[in-house]
Amino acid sequence: MAEPPTLLVADDDPAVRESLERTLKREGYRVVVASDGQAGLERLKAGGVDLVLADLKMPGLNGLELLRAAKTVAPDVDVIMLTAFGTVEEAVQAMKDGAYDFLTKPFQRAQLIRLIRKALERRALIEENRALQQRLEDLLRQGAVIGTSAAFQRMMVLIEQVASSSATVLIQGESGTGKELAARAIHERSPRRTRPFVAVNCAALPETLLESELFGYERGAFTGATGRKEGRFELADGGTLFLDEVADLSPVTQPKILRVLQEGEFERVGGTKTIRVDVRIVSATNQDLGRLVREKRFREDLYYRLNVITVPVPPLRQRQEDIPMLAHHFLRVYAAKNNRRLEGFSEDALRRLEAYAWPGNVRELENAVERAVVLARESVIEVADLPGSVVGTAPRVEGLVSIPVGTPLAEVEQRLLEETLRHTKGNKTLAAKLLGIDPKTVFRKLKQGGGEDAVGAAPEASGEGADADQ
Ligand SMILES: Nc1ncnc2c1ncn2[C@@H]1O[C@H](COP(=O)(O)OP(=O)(O)OP(=O)(O)O)[C@@H](O)[C@H]1O
Ligand SMILES: [Mg+2]
Repeated sequence: MAEPPTLLVADDDPAVRESLERTLKREGYRVVVASDGQAGLERLKAGGVDLVLADLKMPGLNGLELLRAAKTVAPDVDVIMLTAFGTVEEAVQAMKDGAYDFLTKPFQRAQLIRLIRKALERRALIEENRALQQRLEDLLRQGAVIGTSAAFQRMMVLIEQVASSSATVLIQGESGTGKELAARAIHERSPRRTRPFVAVNCAALPETLLESELFGYERGAFTGATGRKEGRFELADGGTLFLDEVADLSPVTQPKILRVLQEGEFERVGGTKTIRVDVRIVSATNQDLGRLVREKRFREDLYYRLNVITVPVPPLRQRQEDIPMLAHHFLRVYAAKNNRRLEGFSEDALRRLEAYAWPGNVRELENAVERAVVLARESVIEVADLPGSVVGTAPRVEGLVSIPVGTPLAEVEQRLLEETLRHTKGNKTLAAKLLGIDPKTVFRKLKQGGGEDAVGAAPEASGEGADADQ
């Protein structure tokens, strides 16, 4: 938030108003004041207020009435009630009516500031979530290709440019980056969009099956060919044929594809009739096709035919700005699929998603969010719901404790203790010696952390002596 948040203080006691105003301004907030409920409501209606602090007892419109009115005119603005000692019933009623919390006068400054901070954080989270949802909806209407980063936008500009022609396109990118999505995007933006988009995975089928898939076959072409079958090239006539994992095309199939590209014609397997088609070829690979050509594992002529235009799809780690939006997109998709109501990600969880390198790219992010949606116990996804690989609990290496930055010290201590005990095969006296603490401290800390079970049942050394740590 660039601007400081604006707090509205509604209290009929000028001394309270002034004291609150002074305190809150010192904390860097903007403060507007109202001397009764009615004035408070008017100020709220005028807009720009982020949080309300309202006295319960005020002449005219009292605190409860102001609260109820606030919930209708500005439902997103939280209200903290200030109550005098002995007004428990009204405070309870205020909570029922949607107050964020209440403070009983006289309250401590620290208490007040903490509450304000919490309320504002929640509001910021809700707003961020809403803004993302809005942008997401705009993008979904454009065809579910999500991303606003510069790297992603460059790719989309290229896609728009190549879409209008019939030039062959080679989409190059690491696995899971969205190559198939890019191929569909090209088709959907092309004049061929009303004709079919047909995808073939060149790595999924053995050579002979792939050929009959691509070119079709005539009756009796091979055992079991009881009828004639059209191939994918024919099915894609007028449209786009997507050759996925094109680097895996066999040396026998490669020249056959080249012929379709050069002449626009082919024969069905077992057939003699030449078939002509108008098909645009978009292919994709996560391999370095140029290198395969140099190593003579892929035909050079076919390479140049397929690769009139290259569209590189950037890996996710080069467009981290896209992570929150993609994460929210998948959250919505999988929450709907699993019938779950989830508001979003905790601040911390989102930061972890942004910090991770995503070697499996968008697909890995999608899988992580799907899993988190299923695991989430609260209405937001927490760090604990994310896979260990993402939050940095790397696989265990003997004699080494790897701890992500930001791990609470108590947890660091616990994990170090457990790993040391594993190292000493459960000998607590030895572990204590290695850690430079008293054995009794080891016992105590194990009890606190409930770590006894984690340590195996190795013979126990006695741990006598004074606990210097206490
Ligand atoms: N920009 C994006 N917006 C929304 N969803 C995306 C985006 N990029 C990828 N995805 C989703 O991520 C998943 C992987 O995308 P896709 O299958 O296109 O990747 P790929 O590069 O073809 O992967 P692979 O190399 O594993 O075949 C899909 O579910 C896809 O819908
Ligand atoms: Mg793919």
